[in-house]
Amino acid sequence: MLDALHCGAVLLDRAGTIRLANERLAIMTGRPKIELVGHTLTSLYSVERDRAFIASRLAEFESAYEGEFHVPRADGSLLPVMISGRPMGDAPPLCDFRIVTLVDISAMKKAEADRSEEIEVISRLSDTVLAQALDLKRHSEQLEARVRERTRELHEANMEAIYMLAIASEAKDSDTGAHVRRIEALTRSIAEKMGIPTSESERLGYSAILHDVGKMLVPDSILKKPGPLESHERDMMKLHAVGGERILSRKPFFETARQIARSHHENWDGSGYPDGLSGSEIPMAARIVHLADVYDALTNQRVYKPSWTPEEAMRAIDEGSGRLFDPEVVRAFKSLVDSGTFSELRM
Ligand SMILES: [Fe+2]
Repeated sequence: MLDALHCGAVLLDRAGTIRLANERLAIMTGRPKIELVGHTLTSLYSVERDRAFIASRLAEFESAYEGEFHVPRADGSLLPVMISGRPMGDAPPLCDFRIVTLVDISAMKKAEADRSEEIEVISRLSDTVLAQALDLKRHSEQLEARVRERTRELHEANMEAIYMLAIASEAKDSDTGAHVRRIEALTRSIAEKMGIPTSESERLGYSAILHDVGKMLVPDSILKKPGPLESHERDMMKLHAVGGERILSRKPFFETARQIARSHHENWDGSGYPDGLSGSEIPMAARIVHLADVYDALTNQRVYKPSWTPEEAMRAIDEGSGRLFDPEVVRAFKSLVDSGTFSELRM
């Protein structure tokens, strides 16, 4: 009957002696039945812990048991098995015998071992991928910082070139470059006062630096003439607006600077030059620079005039509101003066 089972099976007595063993167990262990039957189960095991386990199971002869264990093979290897043991019956003589079945679970154990090895490989890979991702992130942050630094350096170099060009053109007009820096600061501050965002106001500021670059094209005899200009000389002077626009690059970076160079002598009422634009036809940046330029010219000495006091100049600006200047720009400028910020801008 035991031989009919698809798993290994033994019949034990209370002493743990194998009274019967089936063919399947002989195959599983690689031992002929003769090496099994008549021997105690304990005698198959050499490790003390295994022997103690068998002793503990025999001590509870009446109880059923199910769990994982192993059987030693003839070649010395251990075969993992699921064992299930229970007494043959409740009354003598059957209660003195215990039947134990043993199912080979080596395939399942191997699959488990393979899976845990795969999990370990995946976990090692994940660690590597994570470390590489962190390295990449660090590298990308370093690159970004380097790009920011280079961009800042390029911007500074650009600004230096702009200042150099502005100073070169102003030098013809006997100024040392302080005028363009005042125009830059004043333009930026008026723009901010008008509610234009800081970064845009800064851009308007440095775009204002080159507003008079076209003066390079005007002969010194006109630029430095101490007295009033003749009509044809005034016409020559006016050419600096269009001339400035032509000198400036057509790159987007200089777009606002070109508008300013061309239109910073346009008047709000259309009486200015070179295009006679009026009101909102005049680019906003040019309207701001127009006021800043006139105010700075009035409050500083020129070859053809002494300097005015800030109050005198302020009065002239006020009178020019709606005629020469955009009233909104005048309002922002006055509010700048009233807030006290303006005195810090005068160098
Ligand atoms: Fe000008």
